[in-house]
Amino acid sequence: MNLVLMGAPGAGKGTQGEIISERFELPEISTGSVLREAIKSGSPLGEQVKSLIAQGKLVPDEIINQVVKDRLSQADCAKGFILDGFPRTLAQAQALDAMGVTIDKVLYINVPDQVILERLGGRRVCEKCGETYHIKHQPSSAGELCEKCGGKLIIRADDKPETIRDRLATYHQSTYPVVEYYRGQGKLLEVDGTGNIEAITERTLRVLEDEE
Ligand code: AP5
Ligand code: MG
Repeated sequence: MNLVLMGAPGAGKGTQGEIISERFELPEISTGSVLREAIKSGSPLGEQVKSLIAQGKLVPDEIINQVVKDRLSQADCAKGFILDGFPRTLAQAQALDAMGVTIDKVLYINVPDQVILERLGGRRVCEKCGETYHIKHQPSSAGELCEKCGGKLIIRADDKPETIRDRLATYHQSTYPVVEYYRGQGKLLEVDGTGNIEAITERTLRVLEDEE
């Protein structure tokens, strides 16, 4: 199964993607995580995208299309994959089609903007391993440190209130049309993304298992 996860920033793509990845034994490819890793390592790609990401702007299609093309050609993607955060423009969706990649299903986690602000406002991520927490809804059992690796928990560079607003505007303008693109192809599975993490996991697994 080749699956795409869609939803606004903070909808829970990463949170649910990790669970779906374990359940279906498919690699989860988060383009945001790939870019953040590149920034951390100081690679040329990282240098190129660093300030765009901090400002909450999309990186150019040509750059991200190449990143995804390279990643999907790796052996672990041969039996399927979960894409989180790509495609997020119509041009990226068309680039994926042009690569000859068939998307089977698109899981759209639908969350209203007011809920997003609270989710992203309370998000903390591990500086070392990238694990995601929420101060209220998903706290670390190790307090201000990561319960998996002991790293320090920090606020993501693009989680400042004004940047969150810009990311949401970009989402509505450039990314939501991709949801409609896949709806038009009959590939969209829509789940209500409000409620706690467990409730959304249950809804998500139910729609995906119905498809199996
Ligand atoms: P990316 O990393 O993809 O960020 P995003 O799409 O903005 O999404 P997030 O990772 O912020 O949210 P999420 O949906 O994964 O939510 P999460 O599970 O963490 O992209 C970052 C940047 O990279 C972009 O802005 C752009 O610059 C660049 N980029 C990436 N891909 C690109 C592309 N294709 N083209 C161009 N540029 C690209 O959950 C959020 C929080 O809520 C967490 O704290 C979590 O614990 C909590 N939470 C989750 N579910 C619940 C729940 N049900 N109830 C309560 N709290 C919850
Ligand atoms: Mg994410």
